[in-house]
Amino acid sequence: MDFYRGKAVYITGGSSGIGLAAARLLVRAGAHVAIAARGKERLDQALAELKALAAPEQKLVAIACDVSDPEESRRAAAETLAALGGCDVVIANAGVAHCMRITDADDDAFEHTMRVNYLGTVHTVRAFLPHLFERRSGRIGIVSSLLGFMGTFGYTAYAPTKFAQVGFAECLRQECLDKNVSVTVCYPPDTDTPQLAAENVTKPPETKAISGNVKTLPPEAVAEVLLTGIARRKLNVVPGGMGKFTHFMKRHMPGVVNWVIDGDLKKYQRKHAS
Ligand SMILES: NC(=O)c1ccc[n+]([C@@H]2O[C@H](COP(=O)([O-])OP(=O)(O)OC[C@H]3O[C@@H](n4cnc5c(N)ncnc54)[C@H](OP(=O)(O)O)[C@@H]3O)[C@@H](O)[C@H]2O)c1
Repeated sequence: MDFYRGKAVYITGGSSGIGLAAARLLVRAGAHVAIAARGKERLDQALAELKALAAPEQKLVAIACDVSDPEESRRAAAETLAALGGCDVVIANAGVAHCMRITDADDDAFEHTMRVNYLGTVHTVRAFLPHLFERRSGRIGIVSSLLGFMGTFGYTAYAPTKFAQVGFAECLRQECLDKNVSVTVCYPPDTDTPQLAAENVTKPPETKAISGNVKTLPPEAVAEVLLTGIARRKLNVVPGGMGKFTHFMKRHMPGVVNWVIDGDLKKYQRKHAS
């Protein structure tokens, strides 16, 4: 985490879960940090917590911003640059999830998830790119998901937004090559955050049956892998042993992964056939 000492970092979704865990690690590492989210109350609580961890010379700021709005994203970038005196690292982490059968989801589930997860990433990155390109240095982190490289039952609204972030990151990486700006994509498995708790309320039993084998990680563990990957300029980082194994298998033996997951699903469906 030494890389982050004295660096200025902007992180969306910094008031909760993985984003807040990353902000805590960044503050402990000596970074100047701007956290962004919509809800003012949680932002204020998070900022107070971060201030208690920080040294007096560290600059910390909380910015109310809806990442799905490009104007708000540009305003948040301007506020960050003014408050921190520049920006070295931009992390697009804010996200929402919908987990339910495609036939139970309404139109808004698809549109809202795409606006926040995918377009929110695009607006966040584009708001800071002129600054990073001008100074010819910077790091960009994007929080996708295990569902950014494999789709499973119940995630028709969510997984495509996470795949879209990956396509965006791959194109962006090449546009950033000659600007000394690196791009890192993180693919967390189930992580113990308020988002996962909300997902579990609507999660179909089939989804629970097939995801039961994947261990839930603490947000601190995911945040550490994300920040280490950004510091090392790695393109792809996958937290957790099971996540890494799944990523490897899905790339090299996708048929085997589908066979195993379909097997769990069929077992559940046979047992509960009416
Ligand atoms: N938890 C998991 O199992 C898991 C697994 C894989 C990937 N991920 C990804 O990890 C990222 C963080 O998720 P998390 O689990 O840490 O969720 P979380 O605890 O629910 O936190 C989400 C954060 O994003 C903010 N946010 C939501 N909508 C926003 C918007 N429109 N504009 C600005 N901020 C917004 C929230 O604050 P406000 O609501 O106040 O705006 C909050 O700070 C997401 O991209 C998620 O898809 C999570």
